[in-house]
Amino acid sequence: MKFTFVTLFSHIIKCYFEDSILKNAISKSLISIDFENPRDFTKNKHKKVDSPLIGGGAGMLMSSQPIADTIKSIKNIDKQAYIIFLTPSGKPFKQNDAKRLAKKEHIVFVSGRYEGIDERVMEIYANELFSIGDYVLTGGELPSLILCDAISRNISGVLGNSSSLQEESFENILLEAPAFTKPNIFEKNCIIKEFLKGNHGKIATLKYDLSLLKTKYYRPDLYKKAKIRIKNEK
Ligand code: ADE
Repeated sequence: MKFTFVTLFSHIIKCYFEDSILKNAISKSLISIDFENPRDFTKNKHKKVDSPLIGGGAGMLMSSQPIADTIKSIKNIDKQAYIIFLTPSGKPFKQNDAKRLAKKEHIVFVSGRYEGIDERVMEIYANELFSIGDYVLTGGELPSLILCDAISRNISGVLGNSSSLQEESFENILLEAPAFTKPNIFEKNCIIKEFLKGNHGKIATLKYDLSLLKTKYYRPDLYKKAKIRIKNEK
């Protein structure tokens, strides 16, 4: 899978791929990353990529031409490139999206800055718009990294152990069960004894029950959905 980041600030993104799982994924050629800077495509003689809002309003907006021309140049090389814009007005990004998008060959993340991006570029060029939550960040770079990370984990071979993916939070709507490591007693808190006995059947049942409880406590919205699903499966 190829990821292209369209951004004015590629250095913010590059360092994330210099360690750990995503670094390995690049060295195994499971993913590759590339960057395009809209400033390299601007026709403005002062290399400007932003412009005041028409109709008034605070701040500047990223102009349509540099972004449109960046995307066109990417599409000229790869017609199938799948264009995703990061914006607070996009649909909320979910684990199911990460799984679905992991099947694409080439994803392009377009990150806005300033007050955002001229709406028409998104309407014309976006395959999808995504938000990572109901808050406003200073740019789309962090959201694009978040999507890239979540998608990459779902590409075969990126995680050493694919069963760890199946046990993760959201895979079955529920949050992942609490996990523990050594020491068995930490600040007077013991690990549940069943975990130490090595009966994998019992541990699996316990983990499922804990997962239900944890979801009920932290995410009652998900718990409600999970209950309905469990009822329908019976
Ligand atoms: N750009 C700024 N804020 C954002 C958000 N919450 N999600 C996606 N892109 C953004």
